[in-house]
Parts: sequence; structure tokens; C-alpha cells
Amino acid sequence: MQDFKNKVAIVTGGASGIGQGIARALAGEGAHLVIADIDPDSAKAAAGDLGERGAKSVAVATDVRDPAAVDALFDAASAEFGAIDLVFNNAGVYLGGPMRDCTFDDWKFVLDVNVDGVFHVGQKAAAVLREQGRGGYVVNTASIGGFTAHNGGLAYAVSKFGVVAYSEAMRMDLEPEGIGVSTLCPGPIDTNLTASDRLRDAGDRTGGVSEALSPFIRGGMAPNDIGPIVLSGIRRELPYIFTHDDMREVFKARFDSVLDCIDRIGEPA
Ligand SMILES: NC(=O)c1ccc[n+]([C@@H]2O[C@H](COP(=O)([O-])OP(=O)(O)OC[C@H]3O[C@@H](n4cnc5c(N)ncnc54)[C@H](O)[C@@H]3O)[C@@H](O)[C@H]2O)c1
Repeated sequence: MQDFKNKVAIVTGGASGIGQGIARALAGEGAHLVIADIDPDSAKAAAGDLGERGAKSVAVATDVRDPAAVDALFDAASAEFGAIDLVFNNAGVYLGGPMRDCTFDDWKFVLDVNVDGVFHVGQKAAAVLREQGRGGYVVNTASIGGFTAHNGGLAYAVSKFGVVAYSEAMRMDLEPEGIGVSTLCPGPIDTNLTASDRLRDAGDRTGGVSEALSPFIRGGMAPNDIGPIVLSGIRRELPYIFTHDDMREVFKARFDSVLDCIDRIGEPA
């Protein structure tokens, strides 16, 4: 996809951070936006901001963990704009801390949003774009943490490895039908991701920000700067859209280690 003018895009997690940055870039190119977020007030404010930038935009309160809410989101987008061209499967949360402190509730919270939510939105996007029969594009937000494990954010790393796998499979599935898929793998972006705790059930909240993530993303790239990077990646139909190139050595070490262990198959003990 080269031209975003008059295209209709759904952005989950579009009320803040990376989703908002992508939505603003799309608005700047003449696209129409559906901002889907679990936080209805922020979603409304984000849609209002896009309206002030000249875009047609609506907010739809959506919890991506709920398949019925995801169906309703796509119905609302189709009713408002007639068809859907792009889906940014972006909503996500983070909880940090040492591996030994990760509880099952922590694990469930992160995987429910980051994996189940991505599944619900991705499956619906694929079905709707297929049915419309006019192409389209899906961007699934993973992370550089989808390739490199870190035990300071265990559930998050597991979830983002999952998003990379889901997105790679989706690309294979949809490419023959003229529907593009990219996996967005941001490095540090200065967003509200450290405050995901506020979105947990009241009884599970610890009431703080993630100290494990804060030093990594504070002072990172501004969310408004990621939008043009993502649109450029779509235009080039890149399988993976990266934002930072300073992880090259970490990635190389990981894949070299995998290849080395393959080379050592059959080696005497
Ligand atoms: N910030 C970074 O450095 C970074 C790096 C790599 C990947 N990411 C990923 O980028 C995506 C966006 O995160 P961000 O950094 O912009 O954080 P953010 O907290 O600023 O934005 C995330 C948005 O998702 C919404 N959200 C959370 N749970 C939801 C749910 N169940 N249903 C619908 N909306 C929900 C939040 O309300 C928020 O508006 C996430 O998937 C995150 O994992 C972020």
C-alpha cells in the first residue's frame, strides 16, 4: 500500500503512545481513523485531536480481550466508514520485575492482552479484509523483546515472542490474497507503557509504574516519530519494521548461538 489518503484504519491502543503516533501520521496523510482503546476518555480525546488535525475519526471503547467487543469494533468501523483498509493490532501492556516474583495473575494479565487480544483482533481483521476482497494491510505490534528474552519482564517477553510468531504466520496466510502484514518491533519509545498496572483488576494492582521498564523507555524515541517509520515500512511491505538499529549485536549473538548448536548436532559429549 502506497497511498493512505481516504483509507480507513483501526488502531487498537490508539489513545496513547505508539498507537497515537501511528494515528497522527495516518491523519497527516489523509486517512480516516477508528481509535479503539480500553480507556474511553483517552480514546475520545485522541479522536478529537485527530479531528483537529483534519482527519475524520471516531473513538470506540474496546477491550481487545473480549472477542464480542472486537466484533463490535469492526462493525462500528464498517458502519461509520463503509470499509476497512488497515488494522494496527497494537494494544499492549507491560509488567516488570524479577522472574522469581512473576505470579500467575501477572502472567495472565500480560498474556490476556498481548496474546489473546492480538489473536482476537488479528483473526477478525483477516476475516473482514478477506471478505471485503479489496486487499488491505495489518501491522501487529511486537517488540525487539519478541526476539530477545529478558527475565526482568518474563510474561512480556513470552507474549512478544508469541506476537512475532502469530504475525509471521499471518503474513504467510494473507500474502497470497493481496493483504500485507508487517510485524512492528519497536525499540524504546517514550510512552505510558510503564503505567500498565492501572489497567489491572483493582485487587491485583500494585499502584506503581514498572521500575524495570522505566529506565529503558524514558528518553526513548517520541511516539510521534514512530508513525512515519511505520508508514514507510508498510509502503515497502517489510516483514519486520524496526525503529532502532543498536540491537544488531544482541540479535546476532542470539541467532549465532542457535546456528552454533545446530552445527554441534552429533558432536561427541
Ligand atoms: N514503548 C515502548 O518502548 C515499546 C517497545 C516495544 C513494543 N511496544 C508495544 O507497543 C504497543 C503500544 O504500547 P505503548 O508503548 O504505546 O504504551 P501505552 O501504554 O502508551 O499505550 C498502550 C495503549 O493500549 C491501551 N490498552 C491496554 N490494554 C488494552 C486492552 N485490553 N484493550 C484495548 N486497549 C488497551 C492502553 O489504554 C493504552 O492507551 C504495545 O503492544 C507495547 O507492548 C512498546
